[in-house]
Amino acid sequence: MQVLLLLLAAAGLCWGQYNPNTLPKRNSIVHLFEWRWQDIAEECERYLAPNGFGGVQVSPPNENIVITSPNRPWWERYQPISYKICSRSGNEQQFRDMVARCNKVGVRIYVDAVVNHMCGAAGGSGTHSTCGSYFNTGKEDFPAVPYSGWDFNDGKCHTGSGNIENYGDMYQVRDCRLTGLLDLALSKDYVRSKIAEYMNNLIDMGVAGFRIDAAKHMWPGDIKGFLDKLHNLNTQWFSEGTRPFIYQEVIDLGGEPITGSQYFENGRVTEFKYGAKLGTVLRKWDGEKMAYLKNWGEGWGFVPSDRALVFVDNHDNQRGHGAGGASILTFWDARLYKMAVGFMLAHPYGFTRVMSSFRWPRHFENGKAVTINADTTCGNDWVCEHRWRQIRNMVIFRNVVDGEPFSNWWDNGSNQVAFGRGSKGFIIFNNDNWSLNASLQTGLPAGTYCDIISGQKEGDFCTAVEVHVAADGMADFLIGNEEDDPFIAIHVDAKL
Ligand SMILES: *[C@@H]1O[C@H](CO)[C@@H](O)[C@H](O)[C@H]1NC(C)=O
Ligand SMILES: *[C@@H]1O[C@H](CO)[C@@H](O)[C@H](O)[C@H]1NC(C)=O
Ligand SMILES: *[C@@H]1O[C@H](CO)[C@@H](O)[C@H](O)[C@H]1NC(C)=O
Repeated sequence: MQVLLLLLAAAGLCWGQYNPNTLPKRNSIVHLFEWRWQDIAEECERYLAPNGFGGVQVSPPNENIVITSPNRPWWERYQPISYKICSRSGNEQQFRDMVARCNKVGVRIYVDAVVNHMCGAAGGSGTHSTCGSYFNTGKEDFPAVPYSGWDFNDGKCHTGSGNIENYGDMYQVRDCRLTGLLDLALSKDYVRSKIAEYMNNLIDMGVAGFRIDAAKHMWPGDIKGFLDKLHNLNTQWFSEGTRPFIYQEVIDLGGEPITGSQYFENGRVTEFKYGAKLGTVLRKWDGEKMAYLKNWGEGWGFVPSDRALVFVDNHDNQRGHGAGGASILTFWDARLYKMAVGFMLAHPYGFTRVMSSFRWPRHFENGKAVTINADTTCGNDWVCEHRWRQIRNMVIFRNVVDGEPFSNWWDNGSNQVAFGRGSKGFIIFNNDNWSLNASLQTGLPAGTYCDIISGQKEGDFCTAVEVHVAADGMADFLIGNEEDDPFIAIHVDAKL
Protein backbone atom coordinates (compact mmCIF):
# COMPACT_ATOMS: atom_id res chain seq x y z
CA MET A 1 0.00 0.00 0.00
CA GLN A 2 2.76 2.39 0.97
CA VAL A 3 4.69 1.51 -2.15
CA LEU A 4 1.60 2.20 -4.25
CA LEU A 5 1.07 5.58 -2.57
CA LEU A 6 4.71 6.48 -3.14
CA LEU A 7 4.42 5.54 -6.79
CA LEU A 8 1.28 7.63 -7.16
CA ALA A 9 2.96 10.57 -5.44
CA ALA A 10 5.94 10.27 -7.79
CA ALA A 11 3.62 10.15 -10.81
CA GLY A 12 1.85 13.22 -9.46
CA LEU A 13 5.12 15.11 -9.41
CA CYS A 14 6.00 14.09 -12.94
CA TRP A 15 2.66 15.12 -14.38
CA GLY A 16 2.09 18.24 -12.35
CA GLN A 17 3.09 20.64 -15.12
CA TYR A 18 -0.24 20.00 -16.95
CA ASN A 19 -2.31 21.14 -13.99
CA PRO A 20 -3.13 24.87 -14.03
CA ASN A 21 -3.04 25.03 -10.23
CA THR A 22 -6.28 26.99 -10.16
CA LEU A 23 -8.69 26.59 -7.26
CA PRO A 24 -11.34 23.86 -7.71
CA LYS A 25 -14.27 25.04 -9.89
CA ARG A 26 -12.24 27.84 -11.42
CA ASN A 27 -11.63 26.60 -14.91
CA SER A 28 -10.53 29.52 -17.09
CA ILE A 29 -7.81 32.10 -17.12
CA VAL A 30 -7.81 35.53 -18.73
CA HIS A 31 -4.94 37.24 -20.56
CA LEU A 32 -4.87 40.82 -19.28
CA PHE A 33 -2.65 41.94 -22.14
CA GLU A 34 -0.44 44.94 -21.27
CA TRP A 35 -2.24 45.67 -17.99
CA ARG A 36 -0.28 47.32 -15.18
CA TRP A 37 0.39 45.21 -12.08
CA GLN A 38 -1.59 47.56 -9.84
CA ASP A 39 -4.63 47.35 -12.13
CA ILE A 40 -4.44 43.55 -12.18
CA ALA A 41 -4.27 43.41 -8.39
CA GLU A 42 -7.47 45.44 -8.20
CA GLU A 43 -9.15 43.42 -10.94
CA CYS A 44 -8.42 40.18 -9.04
CA GLU A 45 -10.11 41.56 -5.95
CA ARG A 46 -13.05 43.47 -7.44
CA TYR A 47 -13.95 41.31 -10.45
CA LEU A 48 -12.02 38.11 -11.23
CA ALA A 49 -12.39 36.35 -7.88
CA PRO A 50 -16.11 37.17 -7.45
CA ASN A 51 -16.81 35.92 -11.00
CA GLY A 52 -14.90 32.66 -10.75
CA PHE A 53 -11.87 33.36 -12.94
CA GLY A 54 -9.04 30.97 -12.13
CA GLY A 55 -6.07 33.13 -13.04
CA VAL A 56 -4.42 35.79 -15.16
CA GLN A 57 -1.77 35.53 -17.86
CA VAL A 58 0.29 38.69 -17.50
CA SER A 59 2.53 40.41 -20.06
CA PRO A 60 6.28 39.74 -19.80
CA PRO A 61 7.44 41.31 -16.50
CA ASN A 62 11.17 41.45 -17.24
CA GLU A 63 13.22 44.37 -18.55
CA ASN A 64 12.91 44.91 -22.30
CA ILE A 65 14.29 47.20 -24.98
CA VAL A 66 12.58 50.58 -25.46
CA ILE A 67 11.57 51.06 -29.09
CA THR A 68 10.62 54.57 -30.12
CA SER A 69 10.15 54.07 -33.84
CA PRO A 70 7.33 53.13 -34.01
CA ASN A 71 6.48 54.60 -30.64
CA ARG A 72 6.52 51.93 -27.92
CA PRO A 73 4.86 49.03 -29.79
CA TRP A 74 3.39 46.16 -27.75
CA TRP A 75 6.04 43.84 -29.19
CA GLU A 76 8.96 45.62 -27.56
CA ARG A 77 8.07 43.50 -24.53
CA TYR A 78 9.06 40.40 -26.49
CA GLN A 79 12.65 41.74 -26.72
CA PRO A 80 14.35 41.12 -23.34
CA ILE A 81 17.36 43.06 -22.05
CA SER A 82 17.58 41.47 -18.60
CA TYR A 83 15.59 39.43 -16.10
CA LYS A 84 15.01 42.34 -13.73
CA ILE A 85 11.30 42.71 -12.94
CA CYS A 86 10.96 46.10 -14.50
CA SER A 87 8.59 46.96 -17.35
CA ARG A 88 5.92 49.47 -18.21
CA SER A 89 3.47 47.31 -16.26
CA GLY A 90 5.37 48.17 -13.11
CA ASN A 91 8.35 47.43 -10.89
CA GLU A 92 9.21 44.42 -8.76
CA GLN A 93 7.49 45.71 -5.65
CA GLN A 94 4.25 46.24 -7.62
CA PHE A 95 4.59 42.80 -9.19
CA ARG A 96 5.02 41.15 -5.77
CA ASP A 97 2.04 43.06 -4.42
CA MET A 98 -0.12 41.88 -7.36
CA VAL A 99 0.88 38.22 -6.95
CA ALA A 100 0.16 38.27 -3.22
CA ARG A 101 -3.17 40.08 -3.54
CA CYS A 102 -4.40 37.87 -6.40
CA ASN A 103 -3.34 34.67 -4.63
CA LYS A 104 -5.06 35.89 -1.50
CA VAL A 105 -8.42 35.93 -3.33
CA GLY A 106 -7.63 32.65 -5.10
CA VAL A 107 -6.68 34.04 -8.53
CA ARG A 108 -3.42 32.67 -9.95
CA ILE A 109 -0.76 34.55 -11.93
CA TYR A 110 0.91 33.02 -15.03
CA VAL A 111 3.97 34.74 -16.47
CA ASP A 112 4.66 35.07 -20.18
CA ALA A 113 8.30 33.88 -20.18
CA VAL A 114 10.35 35.20 -23.11
CA VAL A 115 13.46 33.03 -22.94
CA ASN A 116 14.15 31.90 -26.50
CA HIS A 117 15.96 35.10 -27.35
CA MET A 118 17.04 38.57 -26.29
CA CYS A 119 16.31 41.73 -28.28
CA GLY A 120 16.75 42.18 -32.03
CA ALA A 121 20.22 42.18 -33.56
CA ALA A 122 19.58 45.73 -34.79
CA GLY A 123 18.86 47.01 -31.27
CA GLY A 124 22.19 48.85 -31.09
CA SER A 125 23.92 49.75 -27.87
CA GLY A 126 23.09 51.96 -24.94
CA THR A 127 20.69 52.06 -22.04
CA HIS A 128 17.36 52.43 -23.90
CA SER A 129 15.77 49.67 -21.86
CA THR A 130 12.89 49.78 -19.40
CA CYS A 131 15.21 49.78 -16.37
CA GLY A 132 18.16 51.54 -17.98
CA SER A 133 20.41 48.48 -18.12
CA TYR A 134 23.24 48.75 -20.64
CA PHE A 135 23.39 46.38 -23.63
CA ASN A 136 25.22 46.08 -26.93
CA THR A 137 23.65 43.89 -29.62
CA GLY A 138 26.70 44.13 -31.94
CA LYS A 139 28.79 42.43 -29.23
CA GLU A 140 25.85 40.36 -27.94
CA ASP A 141 26.60 41.83 -24.55
CA PHE A 142 23.86 41.90 -21.88
CA PRO A 143 25.81 42.54 -18.67
CA ALA A 144 22.67 42.83 -16.52
CA VAL A 145 22.07 39.05 -16.92
CA PRO A 146 25.00 38.60 -17.81
CA TYR A 147 25.06 37.07 -21.30
CA SER A 148 27.92 37.47 -23.76
CA GLY A 149 28.63 36.30 -27.32
CA TRP A 150 29.27 32.76 -26.03
CA ASP A 151 25.66 32.44 -25.00
CA PHE A 152 24.07 32.76 -28.45
CA ASN A 153 23.44 30.27 -31.22
CA ASP A 154 25.27 31.95 -34.11
CA GLY A 155 27.59 29.00 -34.76
CA LYS A 156 24.68 26.56 -34.96
CA CYS A 157 22.64 28.45 -37.56
CA HIS A 158 23.45 27.77 -41.19
CA THR A 159 21.29 30.21 -43.13
CA GLY A 160 22.83 33.06 -45.09
CA SER A 161 20.96 35.74 -43.19
CA GLY A 162 21.29 34.15 -39.74
CA ASN A 163 17.50 34.28 -39.57
CA ILE A 164 14.92 31.53 -39.98
CA GLU A 165 14.30 31.31 -43.72
CA ASN A 166 12.43 28.03 -44.10
CA TYR A 167 9.87 26.69 -41.63
CA GLY A 168 10.18 23.29 -43.30
CA ASP A 169 13.66 22.95 -41.73
CA MET A 170 13.37 22.28 -38.00
CA TYR A 171 17.06 23.05 -37.43
CA GLN A 172 16.64 26.57 -38.78
CA VAL A 173 13.46 27.11 -36.80
CA ARG A 174 15.24 26.22 -33.55
CA ASP A 175 18.83 27.35 -34.11
CA CYS A 176 18.46 30.54 -36.16
CA ARG A 177 17.13 33.96 -35.29
CA LEU A 178 13.38 34.49 -35.22
CA THR A 179 12.89 37.76 -37.17
CA GLY A 180 16.38 38.93 -36.21
CA LEU A 181 16.04 38.30 -32.45
CA LEU A 182 19.35 37.23 -30.86
CA ASP A 183 18.89 33.48 -30.33
CA LEU A 184 20.01 32.14 -26.96
CA ALA A 185 22.13 28.96 -26.85
CA LEU A 186 19.79 26.91 -24.70
CA SER A 187 21.99 23.86 -25.08
CA LYS A 188 24.40 25.56 -22.62
CA ASP A 189 23.90 24.81 -18.97
CA TYR A 190 24.88 28.39 -18.09
CA VAL A 191 22.03 29.81 -20.21
CA ARG A 192 19.55 27.29 -18.78
CA SER A 193 20.66 28.28 -15.28
CA LYS A 194 20.13 32.00 -15.88
CA ILE A 195 16.63 31.31 -17.26
CA ALA A 196 15.80 29.03 -14.33
CA GLU A 197 17.07 31.69 -11.92
CA TYR A 198 14.64 34.20 -13.46
CA MET A 199 11.71 31.80 -13.37
CA ASN A 200 12.54 30.64 -9.83
CA ASN A 201 12.55 34.24 -8.67
CA LEU A 202 8.96 34.49 -9.96
CA ILE A 203 7.96 31.10 -8.52
CA ASP A 204 9.25 32.14 -5.12
CA MET A 205 7.11 35.30 -5.34
CA GLY A 206 4.04 33.05 -5.80
CA VAL A 207 3.32 32.70 -9.54
CA ALA A 208 1.49 29.50 -10.53
CA GLY A 209 3.04 28.82 -13.93
CA PHE A 210 4.33 30.05 -17.24
CA ARG A 211 3.46 30.55 -20.87
CA ILE A 212 6.68 29.67 -22.69
CA ASP A 213 6.91 32.19 -25.53
CA ALA A 214 8.31 30.97 -28.87
CA ALA A 215 8.61 27.37 -27.62
CA LYS A 216 8.53 26.21 -31.22
CA HIS A 217 11.88 27.96 -31.66
CA MET A 218 13.53 25.94 -28.90
CA TRP A 219 14.38 22.23 -28.80
CA PRO A 220 11.97 20.41 -26.46
CA GLY A 221 14.96 18.91 -24.64
CA ASP A 222 16.47 22.36 -24.07
CA ILE A 223 13.19 23.56 -22.56
CA LYS A 224 13.21 20.51 -20.32
CA GLY A 225 16.76 21.50 -19.39
CA PHE A 226 15.61 24.67 -17.67
CA LEU A 227 12.23 23.35 -16.48
CA ASP A 228 14.01 20.60 -14.55
CA LYS A 229 15.79 23.31 -12.56
CA LEU A 230 12.57 24.98 -11.42
CA HIS A 231 11.47 25.09 -7.80
CA ASN A 232 8.14 23.75 -6.59
CA LEU A 233 5.54 26.45 -6.07
CA ASN A 234 5.55 28.64 -2.98
CA THR A 235 3.95 26.75 -0.10
CA GLN A 236 2.40 29.94 1.24
CA TRP A 237 -0.19 29.51 -1.53
CA PHE A 238 0.22 25.99 -2.92
CA SER A 239 0.49 22.56 -1.38
CA GLU A 240 3.89 20.98 -0.89
CA GLY A 241 5.46 19.57 -4.06
CA THR A 242 3.29 21.47 -6.57
CA ARG A 243 4.95 21.94 -9.95
CA PRO A 244 4.50 25.11 -12.03
CA PHE A 245 1.88 24.90 -14.78
CA ILE A 246 3.61 25.01 -18.18
CA TYR A 247 2.00 25.87 -21.52
CA GLN A 248 4.19 26.26 -24.54
CA GLU A 249 3.58 28.50 -27.52
CA VAL A 250 3.88 26.03 -30.40
CA ILE A 251 2.19 27.31 -33.53
CA ASP A 252 1.28 24.09 -35.32
CA LEU A 253 -1.37 24.49 -37.99
CA GLY A 254 -0.19 21.33 -39.71
CA GLY A 255 2.17 20.89 -42.65
CA GLU A 256 5.44 21.57 -40.82
CA PRO A 257 7.98 19.18 -39.26
CA ILE A 258 7.56 20.79 -35.81
CA THR A 259 4.39 19.62 -34.06
CA GLY A 260 2.77 20.32 -30.72
CA SER A 261 3.10 16.69 -29.67
CA GLN A 262 6.91 16.99 -29.61
CA TYR A 263 6.49 19.21 -26.53
CA PHE A 264 4.08 17.14 -24.42
CA GLU A 265 6.86 15.98 -22.11
CA ASN A 266 7.28 19.55 -20.85
CA GLY A 267 3.66 20.58 -20.41
CA ARG A 268 0.64 21.66 -22.39
CA VAL A 269 0.79 23.40 -25.77
CA THR A 270 -1.24 26.26 -27.21
CA GLU A 271 -3.60 24.66 -29.77
CA PHE A 272 -3.65 27.24 -32.58
CA LYS A 273 -5.86 25.13 -34.84
CA TYR A 274 -8.69 25.71 -32.36
CA GLY A 275 -9.30 29.42 -32.98
CA ALA A 276 -8.45 29.21 -36.68
CA LYS A 277 -11.02 26.44 -37.24
CA LEU A 278 -13.71 27.86 -34.96
CA GLY A 279 -13.45 31.20 -36.78
CA THR A 280 -13.76 29.42 -40.14
CA VAL A 281 -16.87 27.56 -38.96
CA LEU A 282 -18.66 30.58 -37.50
CA ARG A 283 -17.86 32.68 -40.57
CA LYS A 284 -19.19 29.76 -42.72
CA TRP A 285 -16.05 29.83 -44.85
CA ASP A 286 -14.82 26.81 -46.82
CA GLY A 287 -18.29 25.21 -46.65
CA GLU A 288 -18.01 24.79 -42.88
CA LYS A 289 -21.12 24.58 -40.66
CA MET A 290 -21.69 24.41 -36.94
CA ALA A 291 -23.24 20.95 -37.42
CA TYR A 292 -19.70 19.71 -38.09
CA LEU A 293 -18.68 20.70 -34.54
CA LYS A 294 -20.28 17.51 -33.22
CA ASN A 295 -16.85 15.88 -32.89
CA TRP A 296 -15.00 19.11 -31.96
CA GLY A 297 -11.68 18.47 -30.23
CA GLU A 298 -9.39 15.55 -31.01
CA GLY A 299 -11.80 14.63 -33.85
CA TRP A 300 -10.62 17.79 -35.63
CA GLY A 301 -6.97 16.80 -35.40
CA PHE A 302 -6.25 18.78 -32.25
CA VAL A 303 -3.85 17.62 -29.53
CA PRO A 304 -5.39 15.59 -26.68
CA SER A 305 -7.68 17.68 -24.47
CA ASP A 306 -5.44 17.33 -21.41
CA ARG A 307 -2.47 18.68 -23.37
CA ALA A 308 -4.28 21.71 -24.85
CA LEU A 309 -4.46 25.36 -23.85
CA VAL A 310 -7.22 26.85 -26.02
CA PHE A 311 -8.39 30.32 -26.98
CA VAL A 312 -10.43 32.00 -29.72
CA ASP A 313 -7.81 34.69 -30.34
CA ASN A 314 -4.53 35.74 -28.74
CA HIS A 315 -2.54 38.97 -28.60
CA ASP A 316 -0.66 38.06 -31.78
CA ASN A 317 -3.29 36.70 -34.11
CA GLN A 318 -5.96 39.25 -33.12
CA ARG A 319 -3.79 41.82 -34.93
CA GLY A 320 -2.61 39.64 -37.80
CA HIS A 321 0.69 38.54 -36.22
CA GLY A 322 1.64 34.91 -35.77
CA ALA A 323 -0.68 32.23 -37.03
CA GLY A 324 -4.31 31.66 -37.79
CA GLY A 325 -4.94 34.07 -40.59
CA ALA A 326 -8.04 36.01 -41.51
CA SER A 327 -10.51 33.55 -39.98
CA ILE A 328 -9.56 34.50 -36.37
CA LEU A 329 -12.50 36.12 -34.60
CA THR A 330 -11.86 39.10 -32.33
CA PHE A 331 -13.81 41.79 -30.47
CA TRP A 332 -14.02 43.64 -33.78
CA ASP A 333 -16.52 40.94 -34.89
CA ALA A 334 -18.33 41.08 -31.56
CA ARG A 335 -21.46 39.08 -32.45
CA LEU A 336 -19.64 36.06 -33.85
CA TYR A 337 -16.87 36.45 -31.27
CA LYS A 338 -19.28 36.06 -28.35
CA MET A 339 -20.71 32.91 -29.95
CA ALA A 340 -17.20 31.49 -30.45
CA VAL A 341 -16.12 32.23 -26.87
CA GLY A 342 -19.47 30.87 -25.64
CA PHE A 343 -18.92 27.66 -27.58
CA MET A 344 -15.37 27.32 -26.25
CA LEU A 345 -16.39 27.84 -22.62
CA ALA A 346 -19.34 25.43 -22.86
CA HIS A 347 -17.33 22.66 -24.55
CA PRO A 348 -15.27 20.32 -22.37
CA TYR A 349 -12.19 20.28 -24.64
CA GLY A 350 -8.96 21.86 -23.38
CA PHE A 351 -8.00 24.37 -20.72
CA THR A 352 -9.52 27.72 -21.70
CA ARG A 353 -8.01 31.19 -21.86
CA VAL A 354 -10.11 34.30 -22.46
CA MET A 355 -8.50 37.27 -24.25
CA SER A 356 -8.78 40.81 -22.89
CA SER A 357 -7.56 43.46 -25.30
CA PHE A 358 -6.94 47.13 -25.92
CA ARG A 359 -8.51 49.01 -28.80
CA TRP A 360 -5.86 51.45 -29.93
CA PRO A 361 -4.31 50.43 -33.22
CA ARG A 362 -0.63 49.94 -32.62
CA HIS A 363 1.32 52.23 -30.37
CA PHE A 364 1.33 52.27 -26.62
CA GLU A 365 2.01 55.08 -24.25
CA ASN A 366 3.89 53.99 -21.19
CA GLY A 367 1.71 52.20 -18.64
CA LYS A 368 -1.80 53.26 -19.62
CA ALA A 369 -4.18 52.90 -16.64
CA VAL A 370 -7.35 50.78 -16.79
CA THR A 371 -10.41 52.80 -15.83
CA ILE A 372 -13.82 51.29 -15.04
CA ASN A 373 -17.04 52.97 -16.21
CA ALA A 374 -20.24 53.16 -14.16
CA ASP A 375 -21.78 50.35 -16.26
CA THR A 376 -18.79 48.06 -15.37
CA THR A 377 -17.23 48.26 -18.85
CA CYS A 378 -13.67 49.55 -19.19
CA GLY A 379 -12.56 53.00 -20.27
CA ASN A 380 -9.33 54.40 -21.71
CA ASP A 381 -9.76 52.18 -24.80
CA TRP A 382 -9.38 48.92 -22.89
CA VAL A 383 -11.86 46.43 -24.39
CA CYS A 384 -12.15 44.10 -21.37
CA GLU A 385 -13.90 41.27 -23.21
CA HIS A 386 -13.75 39.33 -19.94
CA ARG A 387 -16.25 41.84 -18.51
CA TRP A 388 -18.76 41.40 -21.33
CA ARG A 389 -21.84 39.85 -19.71
CA GLN A 390 -22.03 36.97 -22.21
CA ILE A 391 -18.36 36.03 -21.75
CA ARG A 392 -18.22 36.49 -17.98
CA ASN A 393 -21.40 34.43 -17.55
CA MET A 394 -19.96 31.65 -19.71
CA VAL A 395 -16.82 31.58 -17.54
CA ILE A 396 -19.22 30.89 -14.66
CA PHE A 397 -21.10 28.30 -16.79
CA ARG A 398 -17.85 26.39 -17.30
CA ASN A 399 -17.26 26.29 -13.56
CA VAL A 400 -20.82 25.08 -12.89
CA VAL A 401 -20.63 22.22 -15.42
CA ASP A 402 -17.09 21.18 -14.45
CA GLY A 403 -16.61 17.42 -14.77
CA GLU A 404 -19.93 16.84 -16.57
CA PRO A 405 -19.86 14.95 -19.89
CA PHE A 406 -20.55 16.38 -23.33
CA SER A 407 -24.15 15.26 -23.92
CA ASN A 408 -27.45 15.65 -25.84
CA TRP A 409 -25.88 17.00 -29.03
CA TRP A 410 -28.43 18.28 -31.55
CA ASP A 411 -28.01 19.95 -34.91
CA ASN A 412 -30.21 20.75 -37.87
CA GLY A 413 -27.58 19.73 -40.41
CA SER A 414 -26.72 23.39 -40.79
CA ASN A 415 -25.73 26.11 -38.31
CA GLN A 416 -28.21 25.43 -35.54
CA VAL A 417 -26.61 23.30 -32.83
CA ALA A 418 -27.06 22.54 -29.15
CA PHE A 419 -25.39 20.42 -26.51
CA GLY A 420 -25.50 19.81 -22.81
CA ARG A 421 -23.04 19.14 -20.03
CA GLY A 422 -24.64 16.23 -18.23
CA SER A 423 -27.39 17.40 -15.91
CA LYS A 424 -25.79 20.80 -15.14
CA GLY A 425 -25.97 22.98 -18.24
CA PHE A 426 -27.22 23.35 -21.81
CA ILE A 427 -26.39 25.73 -24.68
CA ILE A 428 -28.00 26.32 -28.08
CA PHE A 429 -26.81 28.39 -31.05
CA ASN A 430 -28.54 29.75 -34.14
CA ASN A 431 -25.95 30.85 -36.68
CA ASP A 432 -28.30 30.13 -39.58
CA ASN A 433 -29.96 32.79 -41.63
CA TRP A 434 -33.42 31.86 -40.42
CA SER A 435 -35.02 31.44 -37.03
CA LEU A 436 -34.64 28.39 -34.84
CA ASN A 437 -37.72 26.71 -33.37
CA ALA A 438 -36.99 23.38 -31.73
CA SER A 439 -38.02 21.22 -28.80
CA LEU A 440 -34.90 19.58 -27.36
CA GLN A 441 -33.69 17.25 -24.63
CA THR A 442 -31.60 19.36 -22.21
CA GLY A 443 -30.69 16.72 -19.65
CA LEU A 444 -31.57 19.24 -16.92
CA PRO A 445 -33.91 18.79 -13.96
CA ALA A 446 -37.42 20.24 -14.43
CA GLY A 447 -37.83 23.92 -13.69
CA THR A 448 -37.56 27.45 -15.03
CA TYR A 449 -34.09 28.61 -15.99
CA CYS A 450 -32.78 32.08 -16.71
CA ASP A 451 -30.74 32.53 -19.92
CA ILE A 452 -27.28 33.83 -18.97
CA ILE A 453 -26.63 35.30 -22.45
CA SER A 454 -29.52 37.74 -22.93
CA GLY A 455 -29.35 38.66 -19.23
CA GLN A 456 -29.00 36.77 -16.00
CA LYS A 457 -30.57 35.70 -12.76
CA GLU A 458 -30.53 38.45 -10.16
CA GLY A 459 -31.85 37.28 -6.84
CA ASP A 460 -35.14 35.51 -7.62
CA PHE A 461 -35.62 37.55 -10.76
CA CYS A 462 -34.56 36.86 -14.36
CA THR A 463 -33.54 39.84 -16.51
CA ALA A 464 -33.50 37.60 -19.59
CA VAL A 465 -35.31 34.98 -21.63
CA GLU A 466 -36.73 32.20 -19.44
CA VAL A 467 -36.50 28.54 -20.43
CA HIS A 468 -38.99 26.02 -19.09
CA VAL A 469 -37.64 22.50 -18.74
CA ALA A 470 -40.33 19.85 -18.44
CA ALA A 471 -40.24 16.81 -16.13
CA ASP A 472 -38.74 14.72 -18.98
CA GLY A 473 -35.94 17.25 -19.58
CA MET A 474 -37.43 18.66 -22.79
CA ALA A 475 -37.59 22.40 -23.46
CA ASP A 476 -38.78 24.58 -26.35
CA PHE A 477 -36.32 27.05 -27.84
CA LEU A 478 -36.99 29.92 -30.16
CA ILE A 479 -34.03 32.01 -31.40
CA GLY A 480 -34.52 34.56 -34.15
CA ASN A 481 -31.61 35.00 -36.52
CA GLU A 482 -31.63 38.75 -35.98
CA GLU A 483 -31.12 38.56 -32.20
CA ASP A 484 -28.22 40.59 -30.79
CA ASP A 485 -26.81 37.31 -29.50
CA PRO A 486 -28.39 34.34 -31.27
CA PHE A 487 -27.61 31.81 -28.55
CA ILE A 488 -29.04 30.74 -25.18
CA ALA A 489 -27.25 29.12 -22.24
CA ILE A 490 -28.75 27.80 -19.02
CA HIS A 491 -27.25 26.04 -16.02
CA VAL A 492 -28.39 24.77 -12.64
CA ASP A 493 -27.13 27.82 -10.73
CA ALA A 494 -29.37 30.00 -12.93
CA LYS A 495 -32.53 28.08 -12.08
CA LEU A 496 -35.32 30.25 -10.71
C1 LIG B 1 -32.34 23.54 -39.95
O1 LIG B 1 -31.92 23.79 -41.23
C2 LIG B 1 -32.65 23.08 -42.21
C3 LIG B 1 -31.94 23.26 -43.50
O2 LIG B 1 -30.66 22.71 -43.40
C4 LIG B 1 -34.06 23.56 -42.22
O3 LIG B 1 -34.80 22.85 -43.19
C5 LIG B 1 -34.65 23.35 -40.88
O4 LIG B 1 -35.93 23.96 -40.81
C6 LIG B 1 -33.78 23.92 -39.81
N1 LIG B 1 -34.25 23.48 -38.56
C7 LIG B 1 -34.73 24.29 -37.64
C8 LIG B 1 -35.16 23.64 -36.36
O5 LIG B 1 -34.83 25.48 -37.81
C1 LIG C 1 -29.84 36.04 -45.22
O1 LIG C 1 -31.18 36.07 -45.61
C2 LIG C 1 -31.59 37.30 -46.15
C3 LIG C 1 -33.09 37.23 -46.38
O2 LIG C 1 -33.46 35.99 -46.92
C4 LIG C 1 -30.79 37.56 -47.40
O3 LIG C 1 -31.16 38.79 -47.96
C5 LIG C 1 -29.32 37.58 -47.08
O4 LIG C 1 -28.55 37.72 -48.22
C6 LIG C 1 -28.92 36.32 -46.37
N1 LIG C 1 -27.57 36.46 -45.91
C7 LIG C 1 -26.68 35.52 -46.04
C8 LIG C 1 -25.33 35.81 -45.50
O5 LIG C 1 -26.93 34.45 -46.55
C1 LIG D 1 -42.66 26.47 -33.36
O1 LIG D 1 -42.97 25.15 -33.72
C2 LIG D 1 -44.16 24.69 -33.11
C3 LIG D 1 -44.33 23.21 -33.42
O2 LIG D 1 -44.01 22.95 -34.75
C4 LIG D 1 -45.33 25.52 -33.61
O3 LIG D 1 -46.52 25.10 -33.00
C5 LIG D 1 -45.08 26.97 -33.26
O4 LIG D 1 -46.07 27.80 -33.79
C6 LIG D 1 -43.73 27.42 -33.78
N1 LIG D 1 -43.44 28.76 -33.30
C7 LIG D 1 -43.06 29.75 -34.10
C8 LIG D 1 -42.87 31.09 -33.44
O5 LIG D 1 -42.86 29.59 -35.27
